[in-house]
Amino acid sequence: MSRIPYRPVLLTGASGALGRQLARYLADLGWSLVLSDIAPFPDRLSPNSRFERVDLADGKAVLRLAEGCGAILHFGGVSVERPFDEILMPNIAGIHHIYEAARHEKARVIFASSNHAVGFHERSAKLDDDCQLLPDGYYGLSKAYGEMMGRMYWYKHGVENVNIRIGSSLEEPNNERMLSTYLSFADLCRLCECATLAERTESCVIWGASDNRRSFWGHDARARIGWQPQDSADDFAAQLVGAVSRDPVVERYQGGAFTVIDRTREDVPRPIFG
Ligand SMILES: NC(=O)c1ccc[n+]([C@@H]2O[C@H](COP(=O)([O-])OP(=O)(O)OC[C@H]3O[C@@H](n4cnc5c(N)ncnc54)[C@H](O)[C@@H]3O)[C@@H](O)[C@H]2O)c1
Repeated sequence: MSRIPYRPVLLTGASGALGRQLARYLADLGWSLVLSDIAPFPDRLSPNSRFERVDLADGKAVLRLAEGCGAILHFGGVSVERPFDEILMPNIAGIHHIYEAARHEKARVIFASSNHAVGFHERSAKLDDDCQLLPDGYYGLSKAYGEMMGRMYWYKHGVENVNIRIGSSLEEPNNERMLSTYLSFADLCRLCECATLAERTESCVIWGASDNRRSFWGHDARARIGWQPQDSADDFAAQLVGAVSRDPVVERYQGGAFTVIDRTREDVPRPIFG
């Protein structure tokens, strides 16, 4: 039987696609959950869960929300590429409010970072967790900022954090790129369980991908939290090889379609990492 955290766990973004998966999985484990989002929670609440509608931009409300919690699974915020001023409050101010709350509660943060924090790496590169941050837009930049905030709060305040660079987490992969980036819901849920329960995490990065043979990613801190993916996109290879766009930039970089949103550069740059 799985262990149960001795303090409640706060889940932000609970009404979103991944939040709803996590809310159900963790409630089924018997965990006591504080669910939160700016949008109403669309599912039935389990007996050990309560829901509070909070805007991540409101620092005081986030401090109150986190009271008594031992871990914060931070999945809330803008989850696609948007103009800077739409990202600023939910993601950039939002992660600061989350870390201030975690410092206050001596809680651990598990942050839904993204492959878009490193999206301008070539697809031919195999990246380790200490690779250069190379965001492919304002959204990816907010995730890179969130990861750096985690490092700062660990070194300065001792707030532990696990930064999950999520690839593509959805029901099934649906193009060739996702044969590399796919993360099944079940692997994500187990990853968040391990990250919350691990004895000690310090500040670390985990690639959020299933056991995909074509993965872009290598070493990370998974051994520290005792997580191994059990699913794989490989079973979908026969139907997805060749499911690509016609855009050479999209197909060149790990971040795929996000790399061309609002792009104004006219040439295709030379590889900068060999
Ligand atoms: N799904 C993926 O493949 C994937 C990949 C990489 C990273 N991520 C990250 O994982 C997290 C969850 O992703 P998702 O696919 O469930 O996205 P989603 O958009 O479905 O969920 C995000 C949730 O955040 C909430 N939110 C937005 N602004 C808010 C605010 N100001 N205050 C409070 N809540 C706010 C939204 O209402 C939404 O329910 C996001 O942080 C996303 O960036 C997801």
